[in-house]
Amino acid sequence: MSVIENSKLTVVGAGAVGSSVAYASLIRGSARHVALYDIATEKTEAEVLDLSHGAQFTGSSDITGGSDISVAAGSHVIVITAGAKQKPGQTRTELAGVNANILKTMMPRLLDVAPDAVFVIVTNPCDVLTVLAQEATDLPVERIFASGTVLDTSRLRVKIAQRAGVSVASVHAYIVGEHGDTEFPLWSHATIGTVPILDWQPLDGQPKFTVDELDQIAVDVRDAAYKVIQGKGATNYAIGLSSARIVEAVLGDQNAVLPVSTVLDDFHGVSGVALSVPSIVNAKGAAPIRETTFSANELGLFRRSADALREVAVSLR
Ligand code: LAC
Repeated sequence: MSVIENSKLTVVGAGAVGSSVAYASLIRGSARHVALYDIATEKTEAEVLDLSHGAQFTGSSDITGGSDISVAAGSHVIVITAGAKQKPGQTRTELAGVNANILKTMMPRLLDVAPDAVFVIVTNPCDVLTVLAQEATDLPVERIFASGTVLDTSRLRVKIAQRAGVSVASVHAYIVGEHGDTEFPLWSHATIGTVPILDWQPLDGQPKFTVDELDQIAVDVRDAAYKVIQGKGATNYAIGLSSARIVEAVLGDQNAVLPVSTVLDDFHGVSGVALSVPSIVNAKGAAPIRETTFSANELGLFRRSADALREVAVSLR
């Protein structure tokens, strides 16, 4: 993709996720300048050095970084990945306490050096942390949002595409709600091309999807991260790519429809929590598409997701 002239992305956190966001952004040409910031000086400088060694192959994007927050100066987008990561079997919401404190410390310092940046929270639990960060900074809600279920939606589309025998790009389906255990697919809007998913005839002649099979796909997507973490200790590549995609929508002022998580205000009666719904993402940030409709069952699941996260946020105040 053509790099947006003089665009700057800063990735906060040089761990597996942050380094993967930087790596994916360089490969995709998401930003003209990519900076990596972390308080761990030696680690960050080594990641920047390693990433810079591939510059010949990454087009016109460049990489800088270090442990001085001035590396983030003038950023247009800041992706926050710093914090504790899930241990095998640990839920994302169990990270809330320690990661909330990291974020509260970091946000004012980042705003000092990049007062006009759009912030994308990846650190988990990303929905709850988005509410706390927005309250702490009083930023307009569209300027601080979470990567939310962009990654989960990709996981869903990949599974459907494999079973249906089609390109992932031809699967139109979303995971909404919490980026976590209460997330769910909007099956009422799921199509392959223009065909509702239950009507699709898989190209290999296999039987059509059943409701039970869709329920299992939803469980597999919800639990995907636990499986990866159990095997390799963390997830990083897909969240890196998902975050790079979100960065491009902001820097390219794309008005892209992505299921990011913003603090909601009377969205189907839900307010004061951040949840993922299909949203318009552009240079101003993210805004939920209020015309999104839910079936009665989906609305119940959405409100359950909201209640679960509201409880976590209350416990942190
Ligand atoms: C995952 C992490 C990013 O779902 O929460 O892989």
